[in-house]
Amino acid sequence: MFQTIIYLSAALVVVQAQDLGVPLSWKNFSNSRPYDERVSIAQTAIDTILPQLDNSTGEFSGNDGVPGIGYWQSGNVFSVMAIQDWLADTTTNKALVEDNLELVWGLWENYDQYGYNDDAMWWAQAAIYAYRAYGSATLLQHAIDTWTHVSNYVLTADEASSGSSPYKDVSLVATCDGKSMVGGVFWRPVEDDPGMNSITTGLYITLSAFLADITGDSKYTDAAIQSAQWIQALQINDDGILLDSLNGNNCSRSPATWLFTYNSGKFIEGLSVLANVTSNDTWNDLMVNVLASAVKSSAWEGADGIITEGASLTSNNDGVGFKAIFIRGLLEAWNRNPLYDDLRVLIHSYVDVQYNALLTQVEDGGSYSPDWNGPAQNFTTWGQMAALDPLTVAIATN
Ligand SMILES: *[C@@H]1O[C@H](CO)[C@@H](O)[C@H](O)[C@H]1NC(C)=O
Ligand SMILES: *[C@@H]1O[C@H](CO)[C@@H](O)[C@H](O)[C@H]1NC(C)=O
Ligand SMILES: *[C@@H]1O[C@H](CO)[C@@H](O)[C@H](O)[C@H]1NC(C)=O
Ligand SMILES: *[C@@H]1O[C@H](CO)[C@@H](O)[C@H](O)[C@H]1NC(C)=O
Ligand SMILES: *[C@@H]1O[C@H](CO)[C@@H](O)[C@H](O)[C@H]1NC(C)=O
Ligand SMILES: *[C@@H]1O[C@H](CO)[C@@H](O)[C@H](O)[C@H]1NC(C)=O
Repeated sequence: MFQTIIYLSAALVVVQAQDLGVPLSWKNFSNSRPYDERVSIAQTAIDTILPQLDNSTGEFSGNDGVPGIGYWQSGNVFSVMAIQDWLADTTTNKALVEDNLELVWGLWENYDQYGYNDDAMWWAQAAIYAYRAYGSATLLQHAIDTWTHVSNYVLTADEASSGSSPYKDVSLVATCDGKSMVGGVFWRPVEDDPGMNSITTGLYITLSAFLADITGDSKYTDAAIQSAQWIQALQINDDGILLDSLNGNNCSRSPATWLFTYNSGKFIEGLSVLANVTSNDTWNDLMVNVLASAVKSSAWEGADGIITEGASLTSNNDGVGFKAIFIRGLLEAWNRNPLYDDLRVLIHSYVDVQYNALLTQVEDGGSYSPDWNGPAQNFTTWGQMAALDPLTVAIATN
């Protein structure tokens, strides 16, 4: 059941002063573990998932008869492995990251195994993090080629005014809720699907902004800005949280209750880089507003601040991967705002809430439950995958 609810508040959200205070109801929001120990905890957690790696597909399988984590989440394991080396100034994961990103590039054109632009960009984003950590020009080129491919599926001004795209066999709208649809990114490359969503567009913003930062080429900056404007105008609700999907043929929306951490998280990441590249405060103000709302949202956490999304103990699910992406987004806001103390204290505290929750329920020294409220549970590939980002991000944010 889709609803057509109109959100007009994006402009207001930008100018509201944000409360960056740390809620005192958050549980256990500081941590005194030294740097070396944080590095070791995170690398041990990575090592614990590696036996599940299928070296012929680059994907992570399940254990004890339950499924693995599938394609998009597998790409994200390589992302966090590269981020781990970048933050720890090591090359522990380099060979596995580079070999598997090359392997998967060879298996699936433009990193797109199933016909989804977001899938392609999860892997391209992993290639960007790997480039940042290790400097491989080959992997950078894979990211650029994926960006060029996905750019076909960004609605242009000409396509909006003609109501058609050479890549779609359905008619397209120029506006929804009176706002331009230009810059929205189609979820899928297939001709008969006019769906756009925040994650595909947020990934495109992030990829564009990183490529702008790396290459200095303004075509990437322009692309990031155009797509950021689409999210700003159409995809942020009254509470400052990102919505999910919007149909490019008839403006129908995903239910207003579809609030997932990763939509806000990916936008926070992309805007952090975009603000840094452009030195335009508009983007940092918007980022800070979304971040301050998202870390305090009752959509996915209680008063204790511990994220409850995707906590199933019995099956892999997308939600468990969402919260990892959210925490990763906070890392980029941290990285790009070294002098913004209030923001950094908030990020530090929020990450430590998740970090301490995980460390309280670790099993056998290295396995983490998908339910961050615990109790401890034996290894599952999805629970382990989700824990990797908070454990690695906490290296930087403490
Ligand atoms: C894949 O390689 C990694 C690293 O060498 C290893 O830990 C893992 O057991 C291998 N997986 C398989 C299925 O061979
Ligand atoms: C919009 O199109 C989708 C299919 O693309 C359909 O499922 C939905 O019912 C349509 N909504 C409206 C309001 O027409
Ligand atoms: C900053 O970005 C906003 C939004 O795109 C734009 O309106 C404004 O002109 C930009 N400012 C500068 C100094 O470029
Ligand atoms: C950009 O980010 C870097 C860290 O990556 C930071 O040192 C610098 O101050 C930022 N610059 C601006 C203009 O935001
Ligand atoms: C805080 O987190 C640590 C793990 O880092 C845990 O050992 C400790 O018991 C937690 N304290 C409280 C009061 O929950
Ligand atoms: C994990 O598995 C071991 C061996 O089967 C068992 O002894 C232990 O109780 C399990 N731990 C949890 C938290 O389920």
